[in-house]
Amino acid sequence: MNFELKSLDLAGASAQSADAFILLVPAGFKPGRDPLAALVGQALKAGDLDSQPGKLLALYRPAQAKAARMLLVGVGDGTPRQVRLAVAAALGALRGGTPAVKRLLLCFAGAPQRGALRAAVAAVADASYVYTTTKSKVEGRSLARVTLGVPKLAEAKAEFAQAAAAVAGIELAKEWANRPANHATPTDLAQAARALAKFPKISCQVLGPREVARLKMGSFMAVAQGSEQPLRFIVLQYKGAPAAQAPTVLVGKGITFDTGGISIKPAGEMDEMKFDMGGAASVLGVFRALGELEPAINVVGLIPSCENMPDGRAVKPGDVVTSMSGQTIEILNTDAEGRLILCDALSYAERFKPAAVVDIATLTGACVIALGAVRSGLFSADDALAQRLLAAGETAQDLCWRMPLDDDYAEGLKSNFADVANVAGRAGGAITAAKFLQRFTAKFPWAHLDIAGTAWKSGAAKGSTGRPVGLLLEFLLAQQAPTRSGRRKA
Ligand code: BES
Ligand code: MN
Ligand code: ZN
Repeated sequence: MNFELKSLDLAGASAQSADAFILLVPAGFKPGRDPLAALVGQALKAGDLDSQPGKLLALYRPAQAKAARMLLVGVGDGTPRQVRLAVAAALGALRGGTPAVKRLLLCFAGAPQRGALRAAVAAVADASYVYTTTKSKVEGRSLARVTLGVPKLAEAKAEFAQAAAAVAGIELAKEWANRPANHATPTDLAQAARALAKFPKISCQVLGPREVARLKMGSFMAVAQGSEQPLRFIVLQYKGAPAAQAPTVLVGKGITFDTGGISIKPAGEMDEMKFDMGGAASVLGVFRALGELEPAINVVGLIPSCENMPDGRAVKPGDVVTSMSGQTIEILNTDAEGRLILCDALSYAERFKPAAVVDIATLTGACVIALGAVRSGLFSADDALAQRLLAAGETAQDLCWRMPLDDDYAEGLKSNFADVANVAGRAGGAITAAKFLQRFTAKFPWAHLDIAGTAWKSGAAKGSTGRPVGLLLEFLLAQQAPTRSGRRKA
């Protein structure tokens, strides 16, 4: 799908041909003198169109536009959230219609607020995404071209470029997370990471079992030892700034399937544990977007990847392993495997002398209970880092919520047989998981995103959301030095 940005007032939009034309109408819309604006004005006056978000008025071959199908949609105050909801509602109304919409025109009747254009682009992409990789009859996305019309081009350009790159990243993340585990092994993920090295400034290195053993990643290796699939440790580097500039390191949990291991999970919905590499997929997606935007920053992506399987060789409850940090860990529950692979990746991150490390993981069912599917869990002892991530989430409409990290929460991780246990009780499970990870982050500012509730949807719409690629990309780009024009380069 191709996005293009055009400078269009309503008269200009009328003259554009398209299969469908969505016009976003804000509250307080002042109709101009052209026929389309007059039509909108009449509809508002008559009460047939409401500028409240999500309210739709459908027209067919209106004399005031070239497009066959037209939707007037209210966007209320025009906040990014309202635009997201309005565009999703409009695409929902167009869905299933014949002929399918191939060319879409989407216009803002008033100048979009900051973040609104990005929200519109993201919502169009999300609503039209179709997974096809493991289907025999390929009926892909029908939408081929999307033209976005804004009153003033210059102001919209940088945001549009970021939005289009974010979509490419989100869709790469969706693709890999959606693939079933037999089509997305650790080796396949490593191949996907290697493919990203074709973009400028990106390099990729993949470590296998021997190298990981040499690094003494005993915790990561313990999780992988029950699987026939060899583990992979993926190191991606994006170098857009001088080497003297400390990088931000992203660490993505890459469990390509989580059976729970010997502490095996119940059968119901276990298929969804193919999504347990959603953190890894988000790191791949961010690099895809960086490759397109080429910002002046340095970023490292680390992905420990393996399956968590029960087997004669699998790690057993009670086993004690030695992590790369030297700390010993009593594995009381083999289903708390994410933290076991992440802790060694966090220790590995030290070598980059990072400005900050953010890990992204589908880590706990407890986080799903706490925050549901709306906000990811954010954990950080660093207030400034936490604020930047929260703000990036708001701007990108990819929300997170800060959770506590009081030391009292670590009490339950005490072990009689090792330095630390890998689980505490059921209470506060998302927080105790974060407290476990925190033990491995003494050398850098660190934040943890628990995306267990936000990385995928269950039920009829089962599938990856591509989150939190939007949040992470915004977080990274916000670090760039502002350009002379005062706006940062996209
Ligand atoms: N991948 C799961 C977390 C998960 C569960 C994400 C359900 C989304 C939906 C993780 O590896 C896990 O199994 N966590 C356990 C930890 C427990 C054993 C302390 C959990 O949350 O039940
Ligand atoms: Mn698990
Ligand atoms: Zn898991």
